[in-house]
Amino acid sequence: MSELKQTLNIAMIGHGFIGKVHSNAFHQVGHFFQTPFQPRLKVVCGRDREKLEAVASQWGWEEIATDWRTVVDRKDIQVVDIAVPNVLHAPIAIAAAAAGKIVLCEKPLAMSLDEAERMAAAVRQVPNLVWFNYRRVPAVAFAKMLLSEGRVGQIFHYRALYLNQSGSNPTKASGWRYQRAVAGSGTTGDLLSHSVDLALDLNGKITELMAMTKTFVPARDVDDAVVVMARFANGSIGSFEASRFAPGSRNRNSFEINGSQGMLRFNLENLNNLEIFDATEPANLQGIRNLLVTGPNHPYAENFWKPGHIIGYEHTFIATLGDFLGALARNETFHPNFEDALAVQRVLDAVQRSADSKSWLTLEG
Ligand SMILES: NC(=O)c1ccc[n+]([C@@H]2O[C@H](COP(=O)([O-])OP(=O)(O)OC[C@H]3O[C@@H](n4cnc5c(N)ncnc54)[C@H](O)[C@@H]3O)[C@@H](O)[C@H]2O)c1
Repeated sequence: MSELKQTLNIAMIGHGFIGKVHSNAFHQVGHFFQTPFQPRLKVVCGRDREKLEAVASQWGWEEIATDWRTVVDRKDIQVVDIAVPNVLHAPIAIAAAAAGKIVLCEKPLAMSLDEAERMAAAVRQVPNLVWFNYRRVPAVAFAKMLLSEGRVGQIFHYRALYLNQSGSNPTKASGWRYQRAVAGSGTTGDLLSHSVDLALDLNGKITELMAMTKTFVPARDVDDAVVVMARFANGSIGSFEASRFAPGSRNRNSFEINGSQGMLRFNLENLNNLEIFDATEPANLQGIRNLLVTGPNHPYAENFWKPGHIIGYEHTFIATLGDFLGALARNETFHPNFEDALAVQRVLDAVQRSADSKSWLTLEG
């Protein structure tokens, strides 16, 4: 007989690409994570009734709604999940927090630093999460373990790339991601935000940076590409490049870390793998190892399949939600939360200001 679980009624606002990923995670989390909570797909909210009916029927949402304001106030809703374009993150998150809901929000957290600060302040009294899902790729979580054990030694370089080719055909790419008024920024918020979150998590604070942005399509008012040089508090130096104009890369979210004792390298396009180089081995045995991070003794190996049985993109969201529900059950603070996303937004804000002023900037705090 199954134990009695506490139902968490979910209201998901938005049902596009990422809404599908979230719907799957709400369904799957209890299959892979022991949790006292049972997410219930209560209401999905969008703008178009016909599309909503189709999504509700395909993904098992009990009800549909077209006005998020009425949804976040509903007494029977415990969790508000924000899966809409960036301009709506703040109003929904702030209203949901005021109504005492648990708030889950997509990245980038906000349109601006000021907005991110208001959002972080608003959710301080409620459990909250930001879907920086790449922290939960097992290979990335394993890289973090190796770094915290000192296996890479003193870090010299943090190098990040987030490349795709989604914007390089200007006739096709005209959706909300290409409008400043809806997205806040272009590649900076969309792609660089992920790289910055991983960098802060894996390598600590950024103290100074210098950035350059480029818009290749004259009619656009957001950046198509961004390049950043950075200094970290731990003494290492960093470089970041994010672009939607990188034919040859579909979703190349990668980083490479060089330290006094070796190297770690990850690329989302091979998400089950982590490349490692151990510089403490005898020189004639040194070489890059390509580890398959699917267990044994790897993060999340116990949650998913047997060693060697690879996982995919969707598992990173299931793991994020699984860890969040675990933290909720233990009454602990979950990471990444709004405060972590605010730290990312501080860096993105500095990137924008540096690119505008063509100067190095020091980050406060
Ligand atoms: N974590 C990740 O890796 C990841 C990946 C993709 C997208 N995202 C984020 O998810 C969010 C949504 O992106 P997407 O790719 O799903 O976009 P999308 O265009 O596929 O879907 C957007 C959804 O929002 C809905 N929507 C728009 N205005 C609305 C309103 N006023 N009320 C209710 N619903 C409304 C649309 O109907 C649609 O269902 C963005 O913030 C994006 O940055 C995150």
